[in-house]
Amino acid sequence: MTVAVDPSRSVGLEAQAKPVVFSGIQPSGYITLGNYLGAIRNWVDDQPRFANIFSIVDLHAITVPQDPVELRGSIFTLAAVYLACGIDPQQSAIFVQSDVHEHPELAWILNSVTPVGWLNRMTQYKSKSAKQREQTSAGLFDYPVLMAADILLYHANYVPVGEDQKQHVELARDIADRFNGLFGETLTMPEPSIRQVGARIMSLSDPTSKMSKSEPEGAIGLLDPPDVIRRKIMRAQTDSFRDVVFDRSRAGLFNLLSIYRLLSNETESRIEERFAGRGYGDLKRELAEMVVDALEPIQSRYGELAAAPDHVVGILREGADRVRPTAAETLAQVKERVGLGVARIGWP
Ligand code: TYM
Repeated sequence: MTVAVDPSRSVGLEAQAKPVVFSGIQPSGYITLGNYLGAIRNWVDDQPRFANIFSIVDLHAITVPQDPVELRGSIFTLAAVYLACGIDPQQSAIFVQSDVHEHPELAWILNSVTPVGWLNRMTQYKSKSAKQREQTSAGLFDYPVLMAADILLYHANYVPVGEDQKQHVELARDIADRFNGLFGETLTMPEPSIRQVGARIMSLSDPTSKMSKSEPEGAIGLLDPPDVIRRKIMRAQTDSFRDVVFDRSRAGLFNLLSIYRLLSNETESRIEERFAGRGYGDLKRELAEMVVDALEPIQSRYGELAAAPDHVVGILREGADRVRPTAAETLAQVKERVGLGVARIGWP
């Protein structure tokens, strides 16, 4: 009684099948330029080529303590940011993860085919749990399995993410492979899609670590006011050299130049020529203006959307309604394969 669904059709997109893209961001308050350059901007650029599903992964956010009122606000802010950045609800389904209960339900089943040893190897878990020790939630440990469920529910072909999520997408592949091996070909093998430039934007205050929402001083927020952006970039840590060249060993400078390159779309040699004979101060000043100019239209659209909450909520409701049939179908198929439940299938 298995029904094959064409996921691109059931996310309400065009009749002809397109490869399916799934990605998501946690609503944890502060949305960084790293999230934008490593993820959202690429989603927007590639939107026409794919059947797109973009989630606000609130069930992932609660794996670390959250204030309920702030969490609700962050979900709304992230939805408005998706739209302000150019995610188009005509081309992409946008929804809140916890509005589609199939996500945690599939995660539970996948938990049972995922060896603990695989989860023990997840580097993000190791670094996050090191700070919380015994207080670390079981959810944080299990987080990559929920992420696998997100991706596998929709038979996603591609998962556009920054470098830090690569290991999690590879785990989703391993889980799919193991499930298919145990129960027969059911889940589609996803592929991480990671750009060469921008996949790892570094902190402005410590360019050896990733720009992260947990360290706002080293991060640029998409909604930071222009003066804050200028101040953070002017204070960015560099080194004591002077010449402006793309040199990976000069991490702070390389990071600033990478951001410059992404926002200007110029080649490395063109940028080096532009700054020949000039110093880091000039680079920082020009970069700051470039970031302010790039974020200005996003911030102004965000302002409009924030003033129209019903419109944003309507898009999220509609997005959940569009993806639910595929999620339900995949879950039903998985349950049937595993031998779970009776109400839907009856007695054989
Ligand atoms: P999250 O919320 O930490 O980050 C969202 C996206 O932003 C990218 N990113 C960066 N890219 C470049 N440089 C940076 N400094 C930087 N910081 C963040 C991340 O790589 C990511 O693409 N587990 C995921 C959310 C998730 C998900 C999924 C993603 C849940 N389910 C299914 C894809 C598919 C996370 O915590 O991302």
